[in-house]
Amino acid sequence: MRRPIAAGNWKMNNNIDESEKLIVDLKALVKDVEDVEIVVAPPFTALSMVSSRLIGTNIKLASQNMHFESSGAYTGEVSVNMLVDVGCEYVIIGHSERRAYFAETNDTVNKKLKTAMNNDLTPIVCVGETLAQRESDKAFEVIEGQIKQGLSGISVEDAEKIVVAYEPIWAIGTGKTATKEQAQEVHAFIRKTLTAMFSDNAAAAIRILYGGSVKPENVDELMLQEDIDGVLVGGAALKAESFARIVKFQ
Ligand code: 13P
Repeated sequence: MRRPIAAGNWKMNNNIDESEKLIVDLKALVKDVEDVEIVVAPPFTALSMVSSRLIGTNIKLASQNMHFESSGAYTGEVSVNMLVDVGCEYVIIGHSERRAYFAETNDTVNKKLKTAMNNDLTPIVCVGETLAQRESDKAFEVIEGQIKQGLSGISVEDAEKIVVAYEPIWAIGTGKTATKEQAQEVHAFIRKTLTAMFSDNAAAAIRILYGGSVKPENVDELMLQEDIDGVLVGGAALKAESFARIVKFQ
C-alpha cells in the first residue's frame, strides 16, 4: 500500500563533474526498477545539471534544505520556488546536521514544512535522537516532540503526503546501524503518534524512512520491517553500485 522510497542524500559531496558521473552511472543501473520511488539529493550547485540528466528517468530530484520564506533579503538561502524551478519534487527538512550545526529547530522545521506543502514539494521531515538521549531513555519523548511540533497545524489531507525519516543521530555516518528491532520499535511509535495527531488512514499512508548507516548489507532486513517504508542513505549513496543495490532491496 505504501510505495517504498530509496533516497540518497549526497550531503556536501560531489562537484558538478562528480555528480554527473554518479547520476549517469546510477540511472543505468536502476532503469528497470518500477516499484520503488528513487530520489537523489545532490548539493545545490549540481541540482541543475542532475535535473537535466533525470528527464524521462525513474529518479526524482530532492533538495537537502530550503528557506521558509518565498523570496527576499536572505543572503545565502534558497527558496521553494527556486527548487521547483530547477526540477525538485522533494525537499529534506530538519536533517539532524541542520539542527546540530545550523540552529534548526522544530519551529523552523514546521515553517519549512508548510512552505514546501503549499508549493507541492514533498517534504522528507527528519527526526531522531542523540546517543545521550537514547541512553537516558529520552528517545521516545524527543521524537514525539519533534513530530508533534514539526508537523503541527497540518491538515489531515496534507499529512498523508508527508514523508518522515527516522535517523538516530548515533547511527549517522558511524557505521552503527540501529538493529531492525530498534528501528521498527521507533517507526511503530512514530506511526502511533501520527495516528493520534491525524487519523488512522493518514498515519497508514505516511511513508516512514529509516536512515543511519544503511548499506547493501543491511537494507534487506530493515525493509522487511512492517513500519519501515524506505531508506534515507548518506555515505552508501555516493557510489552508484551500492545505492543501486539498496534501491533493489529484497
Ligand atoms: P549515513 O548513511 O552516511 O549514515 O547518513 C545517513 C543520513 O544522514 C542520510 O540523511
